[in-house]
Amino acid sequence: MSDRYCVFGHPIGHSKSPIIHQAFAAQTGEAMGYEAIEAPLDGFQDAWRSFVANGGHGANVTVPFKQEAYRLCDTLSHRARRAGAVNTLLLGKNGATYGDTTDGVGLVRDLANHAVALAGKRVLVLGAGGAVRGVLEPLLAAGPAQVVIANRTVEKAECLARDFGDLGAVSGAGFEGLPGGFDVVINGTSASLSGELPPLPDDLFTERGATAYDMMYAAEPTVFLAWAAARGARPLDGLGMLVEQAAESFFQWRHVRPDTAPVLADLRRAL
Ligand code: ATR
Repeated sequence: MSDRYCVFGHPIGHSKSPIIHQAFAAQTGEAMGYEAIEAPLDGFQDAWRSFVANGGHGANVTVPFKQEAYRLCDTLSHRARRAGAVNTLLLGKNGATYGDTTDGVGLVRDLANHAVALAGKRVLVLGAGGAVRGVLEPLLAAGPAQVVIANRTVEKAECLARDFGDLGAVSGAGFEGLPGGFDVVINGTSASLSGELPPLPDDLFTERGATAYDMMYAAEPTVFLAWAAARGARPLDGLGMLVEQAAESFFQWRHVRPDTAPVLADLRRAL
């Protein structure tokens, strides 16, 4: 029997994780199955336990269960502990549950795939919710000269900057009066989901060749990416991050690194 993996979420019908992991498994010849499971909103822990009891080896976790997954783990990766969230569960040989978060690695790898450097660069991160907290450790580990976190609710940005201040030069701010001159601007707000643009200064993209990255993706450019491209920035959406975070989860489970490029190209065509 092949090893069982799944993604837990609620709702889960939209998830691309089964397509991605099934493609990785086919490509690498790994004997594994991967399915989507909609856990009840008040029943995530039971869903994981029942999955394990039925031969489950590991899982991805998406909205709204990432914090709950963090709480159920027996051991955690360093980056998951920092993030306070887990998107990858792995059952150890002793039956203990190990948790990791691969979103930040996914973001950093996708930027690298597009030849976007972070080391020594000025980086602006928009938003201060769970999505941003989840990527800050790998982002800071890439060695930017400066990271500014800007958020509508300024205190949340300041709080995040304090929490991660031991890892690099990171500060919190509001949107008003943000200076230009950033090399990379990453939208980690959920504004794109509702087709909204964070209230950004019109002259934010003063740097030639700056990169605008949206952690969201859609068939059409997000409002943020359209806005940034109209101001001369290079727009990149989060589809590559999705595939790279999946590849890192796959590696945690199988110790094999899939080739992400063809999987991303297929997903892009199907959007
Ligand atoms: P997620 O898990 O996606 O990060 P979250 O923790 O609810 O979700 O955080 C959502 C983030 O998007 C927050 O930074 C939020 O700003 P506030 O902290 O001020 O609420 C931000 N956000 C959502 N809609 C926004 C909008 N229309 N403009 C600007 N920021 C927005």
